[in-house]
Amino acid sequence: DDSRLTDRFGRVATDLRVSLTDRCNLRCTYCMPAEGLEWMPTEEALTDEEVVRLVRVAVERLGVREIRFTGGEPLLRRGLEDIVAATTALEPRPETSVTTNGLGLVRRAKGLAAAGLDRVNVSLDTLRPERFAEITRRDRLADVLAGLAAARDEGMTPIKINTVLMPGLNDDEAPDLLAWALEEGFELRIIEQMPLDAGHSWQRDRMVTADQILASLQTRFPLRPDPAERGGAPAERFLVDGWERPGGGPARVGVIASVTRPFCGNCDRTRLTADGQVRTCLFARSENDLRGLLRGGGSDEEIATAWRVAMWGKKAGHGIDDPGFLQPDRPMSAIGG
Ligand code: GTP
Ligand code: 5AD
Ligand code: SF4
Repeated sequence: DDSRLTDRFGRVATDLRVSLTDRCNLRCTYCMPAEGLEWMPTEEALTDEEVVRLVRVAVERLGVREIRFTGGEPLLRRGLEDIVAATTALEPRPETSVTTNGLGLVRRAKGLAAAGLDRVNVSLDTLRPERFAEITRRDRLADVLAGLAAARDEGMTPIKINTVLMPGLNDDEAPDLLAWALEEGFELRIIEQMPLDAGHSWQRDRMVTADQILASLQTRFPLRPDPAERGGAPAERFLVDGWERPGGGPARVGVIASVTRPFCGNCDRTRLTADGQVRTCLFARSENDLRGLLRGGGSDEEIATAWRVAMWGKKAGHGIDDPGFLQPDRPMSAIGG
């Protein structure tokens, strides 16, 4: 099928991640400086209508089946409910999700569920209020927990928790986080830190590896590899022996080991930045402009063609291990993870 987003290595992108803003209301130390970054000017960001147009082209013409809205912090986007509603009204209806830090989710969960949002993934690196304030530079742990409860009440499940472990900050907390997630019925995923911070201070030997994460979890929980098909998922999943999910079925935990166990060969992703650029990879060194085409009166098919051309330039992998590796110019907060 020639109409899909195929690359030179035979991968097909069926999962679109749309960054809706580069702004955030937390200041995680591993992501951005205390003073924030230079934000994207409003006129450069796509409007709600422009976002929906590009999502529609992806679903109707390019075979995209899953849409995830990211940021920065996507809940800062006032039109999020409208964008979600327009997305879930498309045919064939894409699975639609949001990756958020959870702030304000307590007030938005009902509206997002009504708009048809299927799931949320919530970032949470610690359950200890003082640590939360240290890591995020904001004292808002209670808001995140309230948001999680609200999303669960609205049935936006399974809810996944994304945790980045950092040496000396929270690397002792993996078993506590898993115990909590199992009790609450959330699926915990622990993520290896990637070189995407705005300060370019990532160091391989300052990263908690998948081996270390699994060893830490196994001090308290027996894990075995999940036999379910992984597909293009970043998370390598494990069944937690002796635990069930509250609704039934085996409980799981995931490790997202982009650095030590890369999964680029199975990548099924394409990305759109808040200013309408296609990124073929988190680590891409170049982007392809769709906003210009959109604002210049391009047709749906012209946009679709430009997107297909962009994907043909997708690299085989992230290249973190290559000698000349350079971080992308956009930081994580402007790519969307
Ligand atoms: P689910 O479909 O719910 O499993 O979501 P997900 O894990 O694909 O997405 P989420 O936004 O929750 O991201 C979790 C972590 O995976 C974040 O640290 C992302 O940066 C990382 N991630 C997401 N997509 C990719 C990718 O294509 N490549 C790499 N290396 N990491 C990714
Ligand atoms: N490496 C890995 N994950 C990161 N995240 C933010 N920065 C990094 C990084 N450098 C995580 C956030 C959030 C998800 C979208 O990406 O904690 O959970
Ligand atoms: Fe895909 Fe790039 Fe992520 Fe690898 S690093 S899985 S190629 S987006």
